[in-house]
Amino acid sequence: MRAMKRIMILISGRGSNMEAILRTAVAEQWPAQIAAVISNKAEAVGLTTAGKAGIAAVAVEHHDYPDRERFDAALAGAIDRFAPDLVVLAGFMRILTPGFVHHYHGRLLNIHPSLLPSFPGLATHRQALEAGVKFHGATVHFVTAELDHGPIVEQAVVPVLEDDTEAVLAARVLAQEHVIYPRAVRDFVEGRIWLDGDRVRRAPHNQ
Ligand code: GRF
Repeated sequence: MRAMKRIMILISGRGSNMEAILRTAVAEQWPAQIAAVISNKAEAVGLTTAGKAGIAAVAVEHHDYPDRERFDAALAGAIDRFAPDLVVLAGFMRILTPGFVHHYHGRLLNIHPSLLPSFPGLATHRQALEAGVKFHGATVHFVTAELDHGPIVEQAVVPVLEDDTEAVLAARVLAQEHVIYPRAVRDFVEGRIWLDGDRVRRAPHNQ
């Protein structure tokens, strides 16, 4: 039997992507376990959800540290105690230092609510509405030092409709996030995707 992979999930708030990953991991019996969930905000709803699911839920609060370097060092210390094979950023709203990103090279995934490279940064749904695009979506990518860039693993596309508000569009995108993020994480823990330089490689389907 293959060794169980260890997944660490980092959140800042609601944690619906985290929940989608937890739910799918159990339903599909992945060869993996969620080792812990860490939030940079102690009050994050997702921490309570993780705790109720019997998962170690840890707060490492950024305002307890004088600068980004020291916060990232503390965060990496908290993560590495659980020796994860994969670190999943799921609505983790902090810019990470290049040193942190380098430390987890090839085993750090993020989801961003736009079709990258369009609309990096915040308020992606507003950006999409203002740009008048007809299609919008979400992207799962390996994290590199440049914010909201990095080799793309999965994307999902949704239509932008005439009367969409930010909230309506966000909900349409989020439903797709909950499909593509668990799929990307599963592919990683099953060894079917990996980072090779600046490209994502994928094992052939029948393997
Ligand atoms: C998601 O839309 C994610 O893409 C974005 O923040 C939101 C987090 O939602 N970066 P949740 O905490 O997973 O519910």
